Amino acid sequence: MTRKQYPSVLVMLGIAATILSGGCAQYDQMVMRRQAKVKVFEEDPFSSEKSSARLPVPGTVPQSYSSAPEILSKRKIGQNRYRTFCSPCHGLRGRGDGLVLKHGYDVVPLSFEHQRLKTAPSTYFRDVALNGIKSMFSYSDVLSRAEADAIAEVIKANDYGENLP
Ligand code: HEC
Repeated sequence: MTRKQYPSVLVMLGIAATILSGGCAQYDQMVMRRQAKVKVFEEDPFSSEKSSARLPVPGTVPQSYSSAPEILSKRKIGQNRYRTFCSPCHGLRGRGDGLVLKHGYDVVPLSFEHQRLKTAPSTYFRDVALNGIKSMFSYSDVLSRAEADAIAEVIKANDYGENLP
């Protein structure tokens, strides 16, 4: 290596180091965790509250807090859970004609109006909902005992709710 070439190697190394470190800085920007950003409730001299998050207007309640939990009757809960979890197969009125059966489900459940089920106690319906029966699987992972009870009452009373198609 001649004397003349020597400094230019250093210059090249310097350029390479600059490019590489610049690359890393750019990469740092791409990692969201390290990005420059405003965090919630961080100090912000530009806003009137001096905070990055707005505070609720005095005397108001944020919309997400405003709806008090709706208290549903056992009947309403039963109808709602029946429609959600049972009607796809058993039909909106418990006749064993749910949509799933119209699309190839090949075990047709009895209508709840069938004599054998008409005379069954409401606990029978609750237990079937929670334990399943033959080809029907259990719904205990999505229904509490109280919800299954509410469904059973709806079926026994033949009271599936208003405005059914
Ligand atoms: C995926 C379809 C499907 C869903 C959803 C479903 N069932 Fe069933 N159910 C069946 C089938 C099919 C049978 C008949 C099982 C058999 O004979 O193999 C049955 C049987 C029953 C029986 C027993 C009828 C008898 O012959 O003794 C009851 C009671 C019942 N279901 C209640 C419910 C309740 C309550 C729900 C909602 C929690 C529900 N089912 C949800 C398909 C379903």
